[in-house]
Amino acid sequence: MMNYGPAVRADGLVKRFGPVAAVDGMSFELPPGRIYGLLGPNGSGKTTLIRLLTGMTHPTTGHAEVLGVRMPDRGILGRIGYMTQGDGIYPALTAGENARFFAAAYGADTGAAVDEALALVDLADRARTIAGTLSGGQRRRLSLACALVHRPTVLFLDEPTVGVDPLLRVQFWAHFRSLADAGTTIVMSSHVMDEADRCDELLFVRAGKVIARGTGEALRAEAGTQDLEAAFLHFAGDAEVAA
Ligand SMILES: Nc1ncnc2c1ncn2[C@@H]1O[C@H](COP(=O)(O)OP(=O)(O)OP(=O)(O)O)[C@@H](O)[C@H]1O
Ligand SMILES: [Mg+2]
Repeated sequence: MMNYGPAVRADGLVKRFGPVAAVDGMSFELPPGRIYGLLGPNGSGKTTLIRLLTGMTHPTTGHAEVLGVRMPDRGILGRIGYMTQGDGIYPALTAGENARFFAAAYGADTGAAVDEALALVDLADRARTIAGTLSGGQRRRLSLACALVHRPTVLFLDEPTVGVDPLLRVQFWAHFRSLADAGTTIVMSSHVMDEADRCDELLFVRAGKVIARGTGEALRAEAGTQDLEAAFLHFAGDAEVAA
């Protein structure tokens, strides 16, 4: 399927939980082949936005599109990867079985792709380990392997490197960059500022709205600071702390 438009589009997206507007009217387009960072305070709506974009939940109003297809849409799930904020893996299965399960679920090959995904997250030698007995960081790594084992065109990562050691984080980033160079679109949330700074573009989310968007450099300039953490505090509304 060819697609020349944006990889991801939000059009007046709203998601309410009772009185809480977790996503409160977001409209944006994300051109393909770039890495986008969602920044914002706890509870600002990043995970809810990702769940709307991946079709895991229905919007209250508005709509989301991935690769030109209105979500939710089962037909396009094979082209989407989603690493959730919690670990979406099966603790009773081995690491290898988990990766094979996700590959098979998306109709991808379960041989080379599985080996490659496990190697990428440095778990090749743990393929026979029961996932529930892996360390926290290792489970995080396995979740990433499961999210990209079917080589998705659009990859959503909800705080992908929480609990991952610095060495492996560098390796993850080298891989994210090579995926983007090959045309994959990556949308990730993060609270890690040096990681956010590696994104091609940042969307700053506050109280369910995208209140600023641009490169790290542009957002720092907009906030009047040299430092992305200070810019975060500025956009989060704590201008005094940021000053
Ligand atoms: N299933 C749900 N039912 C009720 N409220 C929800 C639900 N999911 C999210 N919310 C609320 O929506 C708001 C946004 O939550 P969300 O998880 O999207 O934030 P977040 O930006 O991902 O935060 P964090 O940085 O802590 O991960 C919060 O107030 C949260 O309590
Ligand atoms: Mg979240």
